[in-house]
Amino acid sequence: MSEILLEAKEISKHFGGVKALDKVNLTIHKGEIHCLVGENGCGKSTLIKIISGFYKPDGGSIYFDSQEYPSLDINQSIQMGIQVIYQDMSIFPNLTVAENIAMNYELYNKRKLVNWKNVRKIARQALDHIGINIPLDETVGTLSIADKQLIAIARSILYNSKLIIMDEPTSALTRKEVDKLFRVIRQLQEEGISILFVSHKLDEVFEIADQFTVFRNGKTIISKPAQNVTNEQFIYYMTGRTIEEEYFTAKNADFNKSLFRVENLCLKNGFENINFDIHPGEILGITGLLGSGRTELAKTLFGLYTASSGKIYIEDKEVQIRTPMDALKLKVGYVPEDRLTEGLFLTQSIENNMIISNIDRLKRKNKTVDYKKGIEDSKYWIKSLGIKLHELKDGIQTLSGGNQQKVVLGKWLETRPKVLILNGPTVGVDIGAKYDIHNYLRKLAEEKDMAILLISDDISEILMNCNRILIIKSGHITGEYKNTDLDSSKLQALITEGVG
Ligand SMILES: Nc1ncnc2c1ncn2[C@@H]1O[C@H](COP(=O)(O)OP(=O)(O)OP(=O)(O)O)[C@@H](O)[C@H]1O
Ligand SMILES: [Mg+2]
Repeated sequence: MSEILLEAKEISKHFGGVKALDKVNLTIHKGEIHCLVGENGCGKSTLIKIISGFYKPDGGSIYFDSQEYPSLDINQSIQMGIQVIYQDMSIFPNLTVAENIAMNYELYNKRKLVNWKNVRKIARQALDHIGINIPLDETVGTLSIADKQLIAIARSILYNSKLIIMDEPTSALTRKEVDKLFRVIRQLQEEGISILFVSHKLDEVFEIADQFTVFRNGKTIISKPAQNVTNEQFIYYMTGRTIEEEYFTAKNADFNKSLFRVENLCLKNGFENINFDIHPGEILGITGLLGSGRTELAKTLFGLYTASSGKIYIEDKEVQIRTPMDALKLKVGYVPEDRLTEGLFLTQSIENNMIISNIDRLKRKNKTVDYKKGIEDSKYWIKSLGIKLHELKDGIQTLSGGNQQKVVLGKWLETRPKVLILNGPTVGVDIGAKYDIHNYLRKLAEEKDMAILLISDDISEILMNCNRILIIKSGHITGEYKNTDLDSSKLQALITEGVG
């Protein structure tokens, strides 16, 4: 085995009363692709932030190239060749691609004046190095999550890196983009760079990792080579339980009744003539690649875009959804794909984030808000979705990524919507919690009074949980299938068939 690059020994860290890390160990060899896995809130991001010098540990040491560091600071860590791509990617949305990639680098090299020609040149080289073609002058805020991620990677390779840490780089990527990312990762490995990779997707871990380490509740459970382990073992290491999902069949669905119907819905440059009907007891799935129109459709149904033509009916009554306000009034709930920019008020507490969409319902006759009830309701969701937190009053940012996603879900479920549109609802959610969320949706469907539309590119999520599946491609529905007639490779083929 090659030499050890980094060793985290007996690292502990607490936040207030929360013990985020309890004497964890992690060893990364040179040129190794190492996967760090575990449930939401088990401490993965916290350890990464200690390695990058963002947090000081309470105890333990980091060894880098055999040298001991009781703690690191951010600059030191960068100078040593450690680069981190965080869950939120720390991209500046208002700057261009070139600026995002090369700006810090110019500053890192202690240049006082930014040389714009140089910025473009550096950015181009970085993108070329990883074989990615994104226009340099594009404003990053307008790009897809996938492209933002690739930009963050391009940026990270500029610094003579020895270790690149990616905190859930694939959570919002399609299979094709994951392939692209993996090519880049393997290329970096061949250049001798070590990669530490956090992921909730098991198939990916098996595909890319040489070695993996599992954390559970702030403790190291196991570390071993990725070849010698089965799916079941893996799930057990992570969750401490066994999990098996069965096909959802909507056996009590009432196909004569319509809860939510869309007729010939069109959005200019988005999608054309979309038709579907959701019946009581069903979970309807829509799946397609990035750029297929799936997100545009979700956003249009919630009034974030205004349809150019077509009709929408809730319980057979025609409705107009032109703005999110219209949608809210009609009791349409939307769990967005990008929780960090669309789903949460990041400067607010967990409590306020959960209460906000229910302000109307919590209003007393004298116009004051019944916070006590709001808090009771929030506690209910925290329990039923297993949201891991210290106190409701803490900032939403103190929650781990997956737990933030659960807050978004809980806050919408609390509104008791008539129509619930979920766009990638379990992105970044760990396998146990994912299972719990799926079960919750099934239970909701069985109550038969909520139309549930699940839009996702997670093949197994769609396959296992949607009794009917529509495929969307270039803005058109190209087929409708019963989930029980498909398996994941068939569904995968249907989604990608004929797409260049
Ligand atoms: N700044 C903070 N203040 C208070 N608590 C925190 C802070 N950062 C993390 N925590 C808590 O520490 C624990 C570990 O969080 P961490 O973000 O490391 O989890 P994670 O393994 O990255 O989870 P995920 O898969 O959801 O991203 C969680 O209980 C979290 O709420
Ligand atoms: Mg995390």
